[in-house]
Amino acid sequence: MNKDVKISINGVAYEKSVPLRMLLVDFIRDEAGLTGTHIGCTYEGRCGTCTVQMDGEAVKSCMLLAVQADGREIATVEGLASNGRLHPLQEAFNEHHALQCGFCTPGILMNTEEFLKENPDPSEAEIRRSLVGNICRCTGYDHIIDAIQTAAKRLRQA
Ligand code: FES
Ligand code: FES
Repeated sequence: MNKDVKISINGVAYEKSVPLRMLLVDFIRDEAGLTGTHIGCTYEGRCGTCTVQMDGEAVKSCMLLAVQADGREIATVEGLASNGRLHPLQEAFNEHHALQCGFCTPGILMNTEEFLKENPDPSEAEIRRSLVGNICRCTGYDHIIDAIQTAAKRLRQA
């Protein structure tokens, strides 16, 4: 059974007829063609690679149905850069070598972008806690923490 939905992603409206059981992550990747949002743990809600924002709140898109996003505003990693410039978080991740394979990175960026809006001057412990839902197999996290601290500082000064 299908349902018509209208989901805005990075400011673009996608009107589709989707199966009731379609997951939001599959809508984003397969219907909208935005493959920056990854699937890491095969829809178990454990890895955080599928993290996007729904109405400004970081959510795991493998834990939501597309129909639950009907009428909502979704933000994905493709929307982070603006006017041809990377977001300060993306710049800092690049500078601090905060990624290796990069598979986890989109989810971490979308989680952290919301986190820094709520907590613009976090302690290292708070940053580490904020990443509890995002697994990275490559970096050991220290470079990620450094990058987030740098981005937080720049965002405070901006
Ligand atoms: S794919 Fe969603 S949490 Fe792993
Ligand atoms: S950079 Fe490879 S999983 Fe995080």
